[in-house]
Amino acid sequence: MNSSLSVGRQLVANGCITDNELNNALQHQQKWQSNSAKEHLVGRTLVEMGYITQSALLECLYQQFKLEREAYVVDSQAQPIIRLEQVVKILDGRRVLDAVDLSIPANRVTAIIGMSGGGKSVILKHMVGLMKPDQGTVWVGDQPLGKLSGRELTRIRNRFSLLFQGGALFDSLNVYDNVAFPLREKTKWTEIEIRSRVMQCLEEVNLVGMERKYPDELSGGMMKRAALARAMVTDPEIVLLDEPTAGLDPIIENAIHYLICDTFMRARYTMVLISHAVPEIFNWCHHVIVLHRGKVLFSGPSREVSASQDPVIQQFIRGEIDGPIQVI
Ligand SMILES: Nc1ncnc2c1ncn2[C@@H]1O[C@H](COP(=O)(O)OP(=O)(O)OP(=O)(O)O)[C@@H](O)[C@H]1O
Ligand SMILES: [Mg+2]
Repeated sequence: MNSSLSVGRQLVANGCITDNELNNALQHQQKWQSNSAKEHLVGRTLVEMGYITQSALLECLYQQFKLEREAYVVDSQAQPIIRLEQVVKILDGRRVLDAVDLSIPANRVTAIIGMSGGGKSVILKHMVGLMKPDQGTVWVGDQPLGKLSGRELTRIRNRFSLLFQGGALFDSLNVYDNVAFPLREKTKWTEIEIRSRVMQCLEEVNLVGMERKYPDELSGGMMKRAALARAMVTDPEIVLLDEPTAGLDPIIENAIHYLICDTFMRARYTMVLISHAVPEIFNWCHHVIVLHRGKVLFSGPSREVSASQDPVIQQFIRGEIDGPIQVI
């Protein structure tokens, strides 16, 4: 599979739609959308025009992702987009991160898994400079965060988008204003430009019609979708999602996984997700990092993690009470 092909071309190459149908959909879009929106939304237009069902579209994208995931190998020559080097963090006298070395591959989906309280959220906060290491270095590209000026750090942070654990929509703002918030904060766009981008993002997460609703009027799944739209609205280079499916029923969890996959296939952001959805999450990422007691136990392709002989990893994947991790 050629990952540089547009979504539409990939769907044709995989026999999900015909060339003619794609051309019709693209022509239909010409009337009302910018180039980038056209590219992002061609899948939705194909659904609207009846050429493919929504679930077939997602399944098609997922199948392409699966091929890519199965072919993924760690490229030791490529520069990782984020790297933690011997990072130590002590919180309340506890060594939460104990000389962590880890690398996040660019333009891939990486899942970080591990026991509750193991330091996953703390790692994410180090990646965006919200927490500083007591020892060691956090690199974004070739820049060490600890050496940057305030302005340089802001410039780097603008490349990121972080969905905090718990979703964290602003309760006092409706869905539209929640999603528009980062654009109003970070850009000088006019309200007309903001409207066009916000509506595009709401369309991508299937929330059109919900703009005026407030967070307390939404279901858990809708809240997560609105939070995802907000995380993507600035078209960030790197998207960090801290437990995007926590607290959701298995069907909605699955729908969010499809949505993340759909987002990745369209935009090819570098995505890092923290998840407790083990082992399902291995289907939705190229790379897995297992964190345990402040150290990285495993880092490699998702298809290899289940084969690890490490007893802690095995216990964690199987969710067993007996094993090296004492839970009771
Ligand atoms: N700001 C803080 N001050 C003091 N201790 C903290 C702080 N943030 C996190 N910790 C502690 O660091 C440890 C790791 O926390 P972290 O939130 O990273 O865990 P986690 O792996 O994300 O867990 P979960 O899966 O439950 O979200 C915990 O013991 C937590 O109490
Ligand atoms: Mg956490």
